[in-house]
Amino acid sequence: MRKALLIVMVALFAMVAFSQTVITVAAGAVGIELELARAAAKAYMELRPGVTVNVLDTPDMVQDRLGLYLQFLEARSPDVDIYQIDVIWPGDLATHFVDLYDYDASKIVSMHFDPIVENNTVDGRLVAIPWFTDAGLLYYRTDLLEKYGLQPPTTWDELETAAKIIQDGERKTNPDFWGFVWQGNAYEGLTCDALEWIASNDGGTIISPDKKITIANANAVEILEKAAGWVGTISPRGVLTFAEEDARAVWQTGNAAFMRNWPYAYSLSLGADSKVAGKFDVSPLPAGKSGSGAATLGGWQLAVSRYSRNPEIAAEVAFFMAGYENQKIRAIEASYNPTIQALYADIEVLKATPFFGSLFDVFTSAVARPSTATAPRYNEVSTLFFKAVHSILSGTVDAATALEELALDLEDLTGFEVVWGL
Ligand code: GLC
Repeated sequence: MRKALLIVMVALFAMVAFSQTVITVAAGAVGIELELARAAAKAYMELRPGVTVNVLDTPDMVQDRLGLYLQFLEARSPDVDIYQIDVIWPGDLATHFVDLYDYDASKIVSMHFDPIVENNTVDGRLVAIPWFTDAGLLYYRTDLLEKYGLQPPTTWDELETAAKIIQDGERKTNPDFWGFVWQGNAYEGLTCDALEWIASNDGGTIISPDKKITIANANAVEILEKAAGWVGTISPRGVLTFAEEDARAVWQTGNAAFMRNWPYAYSLSLGADSKVAGKFDVSPLPAGKSGSGAATLGGWQLAVSRYSRNPEIAAEVAFFMAGYENQKIRAIEASYNPTIQALYADIEVLKATPFFGSLFDVFTSAVARPSTATAPRYNEVSTLFFKAVHSILSGTVDAATALEELALDLEDLTGFEVVWGL
């Protein structure tokens, strides 16, 4: 009798085990995003005990993550069902993803910001559901500005001056102190930072939405030469190897007056292990000659692989993870900007991250990288751009020469016309 019961139990267990649907999500691991994605997966599994959601962590740097994704996608692998994709990738990767409208996305899509939905729509197909949005911000030390009698800088010139004054003062007791940290490695993050400098100086967006190569212009040269001047003066030479987390590490140990970073660093900077908690604030990035600062539009979406064995369930998991409740948790716990407009009016969200309200315009007016105009070659365009900028910052070539060569390379790659403005 006991044996029979045991056999039945084993059989039942096997049925449950084998009927279990497994959904794998390839997600980011910058800051605490992996922990948050795992918590969302757990919450989903509590609702749907028949589904196991695994969350894979992937490299922090955008080009490395893309390389990994392409290995799965080009092999048409069913091993990953959901990919966390960058705002610049829908055009480059569209063919690998299902149209979420086939899985009832029309019921939820109108909650999200229109421009992001538009960005994720390729030939009428919704290739990813928005998850969080990003825009570059200036982090500054309120205590140090006060100590040196300074105001938050609103132009790059003011930032340079303030960074130098604070750095000179702080160096007397702290030899590791720097004025300004940012993302200078040769990767997508540098494309974002450099686009901000250039757009704030009326230098355009590398390639215009109407497919003209505009990067070879005097305003871009001017601001890139200025940024090259920061390396080794107000910014460590090592900034040329920095990604987001490297800049945050210097900032959070209290060794920088200013940092350019995305909103995720806000919540982490308030944390128990942060030396700058209670001593910082955020503002729009400084302006160049355009008179206003520019923030690059970033952000991540969830896309369902065409090669998934369970696209319907995968779509349900993606919608759950990108849904109102989960975006709210992520906003409150980790300052990830929601893509759901109503969350910017949510009192609990605004209490945790007041700048979602005060800097709302920065998020809605962020400057897009030219990924739609250049799809499916954006990654190649960006790679040429950040390599050129990196060589200017490293001092191996002057900005005018580098941008002239870049424009010609972009012309070869895209076939678009160059508008010369050097
Ligand atoms: C952030 C942005 C993303 C950008 C990346 C660059 O993750 O959200 O859009 O490409 O930084 O490092």
